[in-house]
Amino acid sequence: MTVYGVTGGSGALGRLAVRELLARGVVAHEVVALARTPSKAADLSALGVQVRAADYGDLRAQTAALAGVDRLLLVSSSEAGRRVAHHANVIEAAEKTGVSRIVYTSMLNVDGSTNPLAGEHRDTEAILRAAAVPFVTLRNGWYTENYTDQLGSYLERGEIVGAAGTGAISAATRQDYAEAAVVILSQDSDSARAYELGGPAFALAELAQVVHEVTGTPVAYRDLPTGEYVAALQSAGMGEDTARFVAALDTSIAHGDLQTDSQDLAHVLGRPPTSLADAVQDAYAGAAENDRLAPSSSRPAESSVARAALRSFGDL
Ligand SMILES: NC(=O)c1ccc[n+]([C@@H]2O[C@H](COP(=O)([O-])OP(=O)(O)OC[C@H]3O[C@@H](n4cnc5c(N)ncnc54)[C@H](OP(=O)(O)O)[C@@H]3O)[C@@H](O)[C@H]2O)c1
Repeated sequence: MTVYGVTGGSGALGRLAVRELLARGVVAHEVVALARTPSKAADLSALGVQVRAADYGDLRAQTAALAGVDRLLLVSSSEAGRRVAHHANVIEAAEKTGVSRIVYTSMLNVDGSTNPLAGEHRDTEAILRAAAVPFVTLRNGWYTENYTDQLGSYLERGEIVGAAGTGAISAATRQDYAEAAVVILSQDSDSARAYELGGPAFALAELAQVVHEVTGTPVAYRDLPTGEYVAALQSAGMGEDTARFVAALDTSIAHGDLQTDSQDLAHVLGRPPTSLADAVQDAYAGAAENDRLAPSSSRPAESSVARAALRSFGDL
């Protein structure tokens, strides 16, 4: 019997990974979902999954929650600035409890990346290299949902605004990353390696074109110099530090940090990753079903951009 653990079990990626384990035949009580807020994972408890309370910041709770876990999917913490301490706790707890393999969700091209989030992933990978537990790193690219979650705003404004220039983004859906994580977690080999995971690359102008083609609503990409993008985000209500941070993410895209030619994701999945057009189509169908595309006259369009950016990149 192999017991699988998944951190961030109440989050979007962790939940998909837990469900993917079950879909591939793992018995529910042999899956442990670690969650800061177990009530948010009530759907998983209802399926028979063991949901255990564990804040990333609480080493003792992590150690208790990992009891009996053999293989652990360490989904990176969403609290930027505190991630390294959070991940160090999980890794130390895994060493103490005898976890046989950690699969860690890192960042695409992490070694040379100028992305402001890359440093915490590099530091975590260094902790893993020094730890006594075999590990694999999944260097995930951007989620396609970082963009498709903003579909309503794109359609409302008729444009996508950013500062990424012609930088290409090898994004993939959370579902594809979750499936890849479970494939790798399920493999019996424990050889350490890093997978560079991403889907077919697109620039933001191509994203706008795909949104237009799928929805029939004209949408264009408007590229701004970084300073003007920061100002636009601020005028939408974002604080200066956060606006600079969000703009720096686009600067990193312009540098090519989130683009890869690696076919690792397709190889691991055994199929092509979900196309951008299919992801946009799914988001459009889902949003229309939930009536989330209706323009809101009471809400400034820029505010919806800021809200979506914040939602996409977690707690900044
Ligand atoms: N590749 C990308 O484009 C991209 C984009 C955004 C984020 N990320 C990274 O990928 C990770 C997973 O993405 P996601 O979409 O699943 O994020 P998510 O839906 O925001 O889930 C984050 C999870 O982390 C949990 N969490 C936050 N702080 C915690 C703490 N102190 N202790 C324990 N759990 C804590 C949350 O628990 P609660 O339910 O209790 O809040 C939630 O379950 C993120 O955490 C972030 O590191 C990647």
